[in-house]
Amino acid sequence: MLTYDVLIVGSGGAGLYAALKSRMEEDLQVAVLTKVYPTRSHTGAAQGGVNAALANKDATDTWQDHWFDTVKGSDYLADQDAAELMCREAPEVIREMEHWGCPFDRTEEGKIAQRPFGGASKIRACYAADKIGHVMLHTLYEQGIRRGVNYFNEWMTLSLLHDGQRCLGVNALDIRSGKLQTIQAKAVILATGGYGRVYWNRTSNAYGNTGDGVALAYRAGLPLKDIEFVQFHPTGLRRTGILMSEGARGEGGYLLNALGERFMSRYAPEKMELGPRDMVSRAIETEVREGRGGPDGEVFLDLVHLGKERILERLPQIRELCCGFEGVDPLEEPIPIKPTAHYSMGGISTDINGLTPIEGVYAAGESGCVSVHGANRLGGNSLLDILVFGRRAGNHATEYARQTDIQPMLQNPLAPAETCIKALMDGESSETIADIRRDLGNLMAKKAGIYRNAADLTEGQAGLAELKARYKRLKIKDKSQAFNTELTTALELGNLLDLAEIVVEGALVRQESRGSHYREDFPQRNDKDWLVHTVATRGRDERPVLHFEPVKITQFQPEARTY
Ligand code: FUM
Repeated sequence: MLTYDVLIVGSGGAGLYAALKSRMEEDLQVAVLTKVYPTRSHTGAAQGGVNAALANKDATDTWQDHWFDTVKGSDYLADQDAAELMCREAPEVIREMEHWGCPFDRTEEGKIAQRPFGGASKIRACYAADKIGHVMLHTLYEQGIRRGVNYFNEWMTLSLLHDGQRCLGVNALDIRSGKLQTIQAKAVILATGGYGRVYWNRTSNAYGNTGDGVALAYRAGLPLKDIEFVQFHPTGLRRTGILMSEGARGEGGYLLNALGERFMSRYAPEKMELGPRDMVSRAIETEVREGRGGPDGEVFLDLVHLGKERILERLPQIRELCCGFEGVDPLEEPIPIKPTAHYSMGGISTDINGLTPIEGVYAAGESGCVSVHGANRLGGNSLLDILVFGRRAGNHATEYARQTDIQPMLQNPLAPAETCIKALMDGESSETIADIRRDLGNLMAKKAGIYRNAADLTEGQAGLAELKARYKRLKIKDKSQAFNTELTTALELGNLLDLAEIVVEGALVRQESRGSHYREDFPQRNDKDWLVHTVATRGRDERPVLHFEPVKITQFQPEARTY
């Protein structure tokens, strides 16, 4: 049986940083299991920036300002001790990335360049044109190779194994051969990214962002936190939902409705286009609902006034994506955009070291919830989260692995994975995965999108029960072993359905509006009853059971949020 000291599931920024940290101690055996090739992980799609109060552009910026902005941005749902830690450690992780060769853009004096971002009171997003995620991912991968991390590319993890108290390892499918294997590990770090693909047809997320780690943690009995909070990024391309970075507004881009008005003056008169994402997305949705959008429900991101030189230097990828996927050249005309599901604030519940209630099991990055983003993440804080908490999880797991022995494995550990695959192979229905996935995406966008209410969410619950029943009858027609992508997409769909159910349950129960969760029937934030985290565990009937836990408030009392 393959055996490792620290096994990381997922190869985005959090996973690669954790792997690198674990491998700093060269006597430990460290491996990354990933269903893609590492440099194709979704971190590579992050465009605009990573926050750190370096004060390179605005000498008055401090980590305390960053902390306050983060807590206010979260609509006061972030745990303030965790948010403090993230903002304090930000300059250090950015410098560490710089020393490893991450090619940040520079100011004229040679310092790391910074640009304005949404919901921030100071200029603090460090960037590399509009490709910051790409350069960070490559830097971390290079350093991991240099240090001897083992990579299992194109392996899909199917279950987490533990004995009720301690980590034992995972079951995984080697996609290339079709073989199932158990991998033993003293510590497992889940870093598989978010579940944005529950909004299948309206998201900036990679096709692979199916919440695999979150779903398998849930099935292994771990608690999930704040799953109902899913961020819609204001500016996705009209047809595809592909991200048009907040960096475009940071560089001075305008949002215009179909009448040519800079409508943000009605919603965030001070910050305008650089209001926080929850507010800007709702503003766009309101403009469209009130008849001031374009014929396909779009509004416009106008960069033309920035001029060719600036667009080509600072936003080259934006231009390329827009020309390629929308047939519109931002040098010449405004970009048609719509809000797009972008980020999962919720995830596997962890402490500040990424530790879950099972010893040796960790989660980091978008699949974890520590919680630093609360009800609404600030742009530029997700890349920071993966660095700070990927590093902490890696360090803590290393210490744990040093002090622990490999635990005896369960009898017949592959059994749950084999049963699940057999059920899919032996199904009876002739419908396709794509049918169910499309219906899931449409249902979630309609019933649990930017605006929510009890009637829609109740219909969403019923719709999901039906989709789950259809999924149970699904039959995999392709019986081949190697690269059976029909099988892997069916497994992903199972994960999405479980997580969609928790989004809807949490959204229905939470009778208030906070951050990304807006209830038309409860339009106010209600701190008296709902300043709490929603925690979901899997019940005996395989449905989510919810309870609530207090938010940690150490410094900032909740206030009205204006921008
Ligand atoms: O808009 C963006 O460039 C995205 C950044 C983020 O989600 O943090």
